[in-house]
Amino acid sequence: MDAPYQAAPDVHVLPTNLPLPGVGVLPINAYVLLAEEPVLIDAGLGVDGDQFVDALTSIVDPRALRWVWLTHDDADHTGSIRRVLEMAPNARLVTHGFNALRMSSWWPVPFDRVHAIRVGDRLPLGDRTLRAVAPPLYDNPMSIGVLDEATGSLFSVDSFGALLPEPTEDAAQVPHDALAGGMRAWATSDSPWAHLLDRQRFGQVLDGVRRLQPTRIFSSHLPAATGTSLERFLEVLESVPDAEPARAPSHEEFGFMLEAMMAATGERQPVAAG
Ligand SMILES: [Fe+2]
Ligand SMILES: [Fe+2]
Repeated sequence: MDAPYQAAPDVHVLPTNLPLPGVGVLPINAYVLLAEEPVLIDAGLGVDGDQFVDALTSIVDPRALRWVWLTHDDADHTGSIRRVLEMAPNARLVTHGFNALRMSSWWPVPFDRVHAIRVGDRLPLGDRTLRAVAPPLYDNPMSIGVLDEATGSLFSVDSFGALLPEPTEDAAQVPHDALAGGMRAWATSDSPWAHLLDRQRFGQVLDGVRRLQPTRIFSSHLPAATGTSLERFLEVLESVPDAEPARAPSHEEFGFMLEAMMAATGERQPVAAG
């Protein structure tokens, strides 16, 4: 796991940059939103457990956390979920009800602490209200993003993720072509169904994102993007249905990939994201 960084006065990022030899890195982020009622958004990678808890504790006392918003139940988002809920007895788990049910197949989800949400729901936090929104692309049908209606921060789940040349804390620092290519590569791999889309209807979905008027994009798989990145990102997503489809590695290619990942990280076992 990498060092946490502050991306806005009220938003801290808990990042892991997964090395992908020959490609660069894939960012994997959880977020802390320091609202009057503090929120943790997602719970990192399981292999980062101790570091994740340390990073979280350096930003907020877990006992002060009131909400843990789990965008979806993929393994790169749920890593420390059980531990965090144990350390944060005053927090409720906000997620799609089916995420909670599905997770109960591998850990004893405290259903009495689950606050089931669906797209369009609002969650008041004292000084602001969060709105549950649908991400335009996703790899899990129970994905639910977050719009902070007070600041325009949009936590976009896997949407707007990108494979990047190197770790950075600001998407604006990534050269345009690298960012566009990396975002397209991620989108075709994470949402392969995008090739089936009706272009006009997908355009309407992207217009829906525009209408949210986000001022910052906090993707689970991109460094923090503040300022005027939205149009640039939407243009990239618009091109995804016509981009080259992602191709799975052959068994031989997969072997080479594992060797390179282990050599790069010094680990005996690589980690993966989705
Ligand atoms: Fe993900
Ligand atoms: Fe995912």
